[in-house]
Amino acid sequence: MNNPFTLSFGKKPLQCISRISQTNQIIDSFEAEIPSNQIFMITGVRGSGKTVLMTSIAGKLRAEEQWIVIELNPSRDLLQSLAAKLYSIPELHSEFLKARLDFSAFGLGVSIEDAAPVTDIENAVELMLEHIRRAGKRLLVTIDEVVCSEYIKIFVSSFQIFLRQDYPIYLLMTGLYENIYDLQNHKSLTFLYRAPKLILEPLNYTAVRKSYISSDA
Ligand SMILES: Nc1ncnc2c1ncn2[C@@H]1O[C@H](COP(=O)(O)OP(=O)(O)O)[C@@H](O)[C@H]1O
Ligand SMILES: [Mg+2]
Repeated sequence: MNNPFTLSFGKKPLQCISRISQTNQIIDSFEAEIPSNQIFMITGVRGSGKTVLMTSIAGKLRAEEQWIVIELNPSRDLLQSLAAKLYSIPELHSEFLKARLDFSAFGLGVSIEDAAPVTDIENAVELMLEHIRRAGKRLLVTIDEVVCSEYIKIFVSSFQIFLRQDYPIYLLMTGLYENIYDLQNHKSLTFLYRAPKLILEPLNYTAVRKSYISSDA
């Protein structure tokens, strides 16, 4: 088509609308020496660029030595997936072995002789977070398109416990406004009311046209 304003629905936009201030707002708040908040929610209508923004922030942090970035699938058991993904990171894996941590109850590794197996998944993640803290690293967990499901509710309430224990865990989620609204109205998750939300304006053709012209100039 020769319509110059046709949007591409590929992974990376062809004409990128700069969202540098939104990107920096989230990165700066996560990277602060003493972070004032460890959670951010990106909301906006379908097609407003939530996934693209989150992916770009995750990519920037992943490139930094201090950060471990893990993307979780919202339709699976998130604590279990997080434990499995952390377990498979080579440096952490060897630390867990050294510390004789037995996560075999979750299908992770083999049982360790004379070590009491860890049998609670939240506790397993806490033990892993303790090693991340000792290594001076920070963990960013991203979840795209949250809904008010059982798995998400469990994960977010565990996250709240991790925060209370001062673990270096950060959570970046995207979701439609109504889904985030449902989630924060759940009785055990009202702390989400205070969590910062970034509301993305719809990407409109005017904005695309502007950047199209200026990148041509
Ligand atoms: N900053 C941006 N500039 C230009 N186009 C963008 C930008 N962010 C997203 N898009 C485009 O808009 C479409 C929807 O983006 P997406 O991140 O999937 O939205 P959402 O997750 O809010 O539904 C994609 O085709 C993407 O390429
Ligand atoms: Mg999306």
